[in-house]
Amino acid sequence: MAKINDNYLKLPGSYLFSTVAKKSSEFAAANPDKEIIKMSIGDVTIPLAPAVIEAMHKAVDEMGTPEGFHGYGPEQGYDFLRSKIVEKDYRARGIDLEPDEIFVSDGAKSDCGNIGDIFSVDNTVAVCDPVYPVYVDTNAMAGRAGDFIDDKWSKLIYMPCLEENGFLPELPKEKADIIYLCFPNNPIGVAMTKEQLRPWIEYAKENGSVILYDSAYEAFITDPEVPHSIYEIDGAKEVAIEFRSFSKTAGFTGTRCAYTVVPHELKLGGTELNALWNRRQCTKFNGVPYIIQKAAEAVYSDEGHKQTREAIEYYLENARIIRESLTEAGFTAYGGVNAPYIWAKTPNGMKSWDFFDKLLEEANVVTTPGSGFGPSGEGYVRFTAFSTRENTLKAMEKIKNLNL
Ligand code: MLT
Repeated sequence: MAKINDNYLKLPGSYLFSTVAKKSSEFAAANPDKEIIKMSIGDVTIPLAPAVIEAMHKAVDEMGTPEGFHGYGPEQGYDFLRSKIVEKDYRARGIDLEPDEIFVSDGAKSDCGNIGDIFSVDNTVAVCDPVYPVYVDTNAMAGRAGDFIDDKWSKLIYMPCLEENGFLPELPKEKADIIYLCFPNNPIGVAMTKEQLRPWIEYAKENGSVILYDSAYEAFITDPEVPHSIYEIDGAKEVAIEFRSFSKTAGFTGTRCAYTVVPHELKLGGTELNALWNRRQCTKFNGVPYIIQKAAEAVYSDEGHKQTREAIEYYLENARIIRESLTEAGFTAYGGVNAPYIWAKTPNGMKSWDFFDKLLEEANVVTTPGSGFGPSGEGYVRFTAFSTRENTLKAMEKIKNLNL
């Protein structure tokens, strides 16, 4: 008889954002007269930039001609995009990478989840707590997380990110083989400076660990001390894989395009991880559509860059409004300076899900409960800055008028 992967049976309930979406749709169905404002999943609201749309249209037209038609593309991405990424995202910052160290994909979420394929199930994994749930759930699916007992996975190393440590993780006391870091951080919205990141590279070198560095929010960095790439730190190419995305940078959440950097210098037992990831992608992935990669390339044109920057500035201004309005309303709020997320403490020690319900029912604002990101997220909710300005202002007004 065929057997299922029973690691799936150990997973608690449904995926966090599906639970939040279900609760919010149920409330909307029961209250059709209420206007609900979503500040939950980090999904963008500004349309794609005109330069991106123009490139996409052009690529669509090309696809209708014999000479411009593209069938299966390279699994790793077209060279025009990989070269542009190297030039604009890395060499411009003094980081020397080659196009064959870049793997274009349909999302940082997929890559963060799939990267586990190239690692043994015996590795010990360390995650921040709270954390983007994809890192945890995909390791649980692979059998690397153990059992889910009292809100924690028995085999994972949790690195608490708490108010008292500035919400930054401390180096694990145990030996961690794989370490997930996401900075600027989701869900807390804080960032790490180069100096704060450096000891992680040293730890990884000493322990033979690999850092999986999720840099999906680098476009929101405003502080010059905060690195846009982990490779800004010397030696990082020997120990880190970096994930980047066009989703939040250029509004590609529905269009799907991202990339992962696996440097040739990163080796385990003499084997290049670049070769393993290439093998994995060639076998299981058929590349991002030509039309989408052409659209992504346009993000790097002068016009594309200018237009996408305007969108980022708009979201950063939303973040400022949220943080300051929450503070004025008496909440303690963090993040939102180098990231599109604001991490707010619930009032009067309320549980995250209770405050989520209160915000939904009384202010009609959907957030994400902090406890959904891990046990140390209890007592917080996360707001995203990706709403429209109008809805952001409306939501803040309603929250200021809440009866707490
Ligand atoms: C989030 O809200 O945490 C992100 O949008 C989720 C994602 O990028 O998959």
